[in-house]
Amino acid sequence: MPREHPVFAWFYETMSRPAEWLGAQSGMNRMRSRLVASLDGRVLEVGAGNGLNFGHYAPHAAVVGLEPDWQMLRRAVPRANASRARISLVAADGETLPFASGSFDAVVSCLVLCTVPDANRALAEMRRVLRPGGQLHFVEHVRARPGWLASVQDAVDPAWAWMFAGCHPNRDTKGAIESAGFRIEKMKEGAGGMMIRGRALKA
Ligand SMILES: C[S@@+](CC[C@H](N)C(=O)[O-])C[C@H]1O[C@@H](n2cnc3c(N)ncnc32)[C@H](O)[C@@H]1O
Repeated sequence: MPREHPVFAWFYETMSRPAEWLGAQSGMNRMRSRLVASLDGRVLEVGAGNGLNFGHYAPHAAVVGLEPDWQMLRRAVPRANASRARISLVAADGETLPFASGSFDAVVSCLVLCTVPDANRALAEMRRVLRPGGQLHFVEHVRARPGWLASVQDAVDPAWAWMFAGCHPNRDTKGAIESAGFRIEKMKEGAGGMMIRGRALKA
């Protein structure tokens, strides 16, 4: 169901600009490029936000950018138009994907499973719309391994979620990906275990 977080969308757009200006010198840009540049065929990006990944897709990718927040979606339009890939935008929730089963070669989730209200349902939907052998490509921030950092994440969670449009800093997203029936083929951790990036196969 489309919704709006105008303050968060403005904040996210403002924070995005310096990384975009920096181009390849920005670590975030390199991460985005590593995530999507090699993807081919029919790609679904869930929670595409203001379209920061769109400039990193290869020309032959046919990408659907799905995003429920109109304030994000309208900011994604110019980036979709400027992309070398074919990008169509769809306003919908990740928990109820309006696509046939098996209709995508790859699904991308970039800093999204922290925010989706029902991450388990969204992952089940991502798995459903992937073709057999299709892959989920993810970059997510997650709960660190047990220790002081994870305790801080737990403590700040309610205020964090209020400030950042429902984002939770302490989710076990790796566990959720595996519980949804994906097999993680490759994964790297960063930022003291607070970031994960990798790919998972529809097992
Ligand atoms: C932190 S932003 C990340 C945006 C983008 N993926 C990126 O890499 O910059 C999180 C995004 O998840 C979206 N989101 C929130 N709930 C969602 C849901 N139920 N289904 C799909 N996307 C959702 C938000 O609207 C927001 O655009």
